[in-house]
Amino acid sequence: MTRQSLKEFCYQLPKVELHTHLNTSFSDKTLQELVDRKAKLDDNSEYRSWKLTFTENDNCPIDESFTLFTFLHKIFNDEYSIYKLTYDIIHEYAADNVKYLELRSTPKDVPETGLTWPVYVDTMLRAVRDCRAEEVDIVVRILISIDRRKGVDVARQTVSLADRYLHDSDGIVVGIDFSGDPQVGDATDYIPVFQSAHEKGLKLALHLAEIPNFEETLNVLKQCHCDRIGHGTCLNQPSPGDGRKELEEIVLQKKIPIEACMTSNVKTKTVRDYESHHLDFWYKRNHPVVLCTDGKGVYQTTVSNEYLQAAEAFNLSRQNLWDLSFDSINHTFASDSVKSMLRAKWGEVKSKMDISPYGCNS
Ligand code: IMP
Ligand code: ZN
Repeated sequence: MTRQSLKEFCYQLPKVELHTHLNTSFSDKTLQELVDRKAKLDDNSEYRSWKLTFTENDNCPIDESFTLFTFLHKIFNDEYSIYKLTYDIIHEYAADNVKYLELRSTPKDVPETGLTWPVYVDTMLRAVRDCRAEEVDIVVRILISIDRRKGVDVARQTVSLADRYLHDSDGIVVGIDFSGDPQVGDATDYIPVFQSAHEKGLKLALHLAEIPNFEETLNVLKQCHCDRIGHGTCLNQPSPGDGRKELEEIVLQKKIPIEACMTSNVKTKTVRDYESHHLDFWYKRNHPVVLCTDGKGVYQTTVSNEYLQAAEAFNLSRQNLWDLSFDSINHTFASDSVKSMLRAKWGEVKSKMDISPYGCNS
C-alpha cells in the first residue's frame, strides 16, 4: 500500500475526536483572521510576530507550549473569537470526516471585553447549535475544563457551572476536563472536586501522568472515578520509589480508556518519537485507546493524520484502523442513542471502504 492510499484511507475513515482544546485547535486561516482582527482592535502589530504554532521539526519542550497558550488567550478573549473558533473548528472536523466531536475549553472572564464564564459557554453552545441548524454532519459535545493552575476554589466553581449546563444545554455539555500545566499544583488536592462532579453525573476526562507525576496519579486513580485519561504518557513506567507498576495495574484493571495524542506528545518531547509512543503498549494489551489531536492548530495535525502516524509507527492494517475508530464510539460521553446512531453511520460507510487485512508496510 502506498503512503498516499493509506493517507486517503485515513481521511475516508469515519472518526471520533475526544481530546481537543478549543483555544489550541484553530486552523491557520482562523488564526490569521483573529490575529489580524486583534492587532487592528488593539492597534498592536506585535501580535503578528508571536509564535503560536509548532511546525514540522520544530519540537518544543512542554513548558514552552504553556507560554504559547498564554499568547493565544490574549488573542481569543472576546465573544466574537470564541464563536468563530468554535464554529470554524466544528466545520473543519466535519471536513476531516469526524462524525463525533468532544470539544473542551476553560471558560474565561475578561472584564474589558465583557466575556464572563456563562457568556463563554453560551457562545460555544450558540456555535454548536448554529452548525446543527446548518446540518453539518457531526455530533458535538462540550466538556468544561478545570485549569490546574487556578486552584481548587476555581475548580469547584467550574463544576457548579458545568452542573448547571448539564441540565440546561439540551445535552450538549456532558462533563469536565482537568488540564493545565502538569508541573503546577497537585492533582490530589482536586480529588473532592472530581468526586463531587461524578456525583452530579458529569463525565470526567482527566489529564494524568503526562509527566512522571506518580504520587498524584495514584491518589486520583485510587480515590476517584475517572471516565477517560488524557495522555497517560507515564502510566506504564515503573514508579521511582519501588519500581512497581501500580498505575499500569489500576488502569488495566479499571479499563480506563486512554486518549492518545501522538503528535502533541512528540512535538512537546514528552515522547521521543512516534515509534516509542505508549499507544503501542496499551494497544498490544487490548486496552481501549482513542486517537486524538489535543490541539490541531498548535500541533499542526488532524485526526486523519493521527491515524496515519499510528498506522506507520505500528504497522496497523486497515482493519486495525477501522476497529480503532469504531471502538472509539464506546468511549464517547454520548448517550446510548447517539452511540447507536454513530454505529449505524459507520455501518453505512463500511461497505464502501476497502478494508484489506494487510499492514501498511505490506
Ligand atoms: P482552552 O481550555 O480552550 O483555553 O485550551 C487551552 C488550554 O488547554 C491551555 O491553556 C491548557 O490549560 C489546556 N491544555 C492544552 N493542551 C494541554 C496539554 O497538553 N496538557 C495540559 N493542558 C493542556
Ligand atoms: Zn490536552
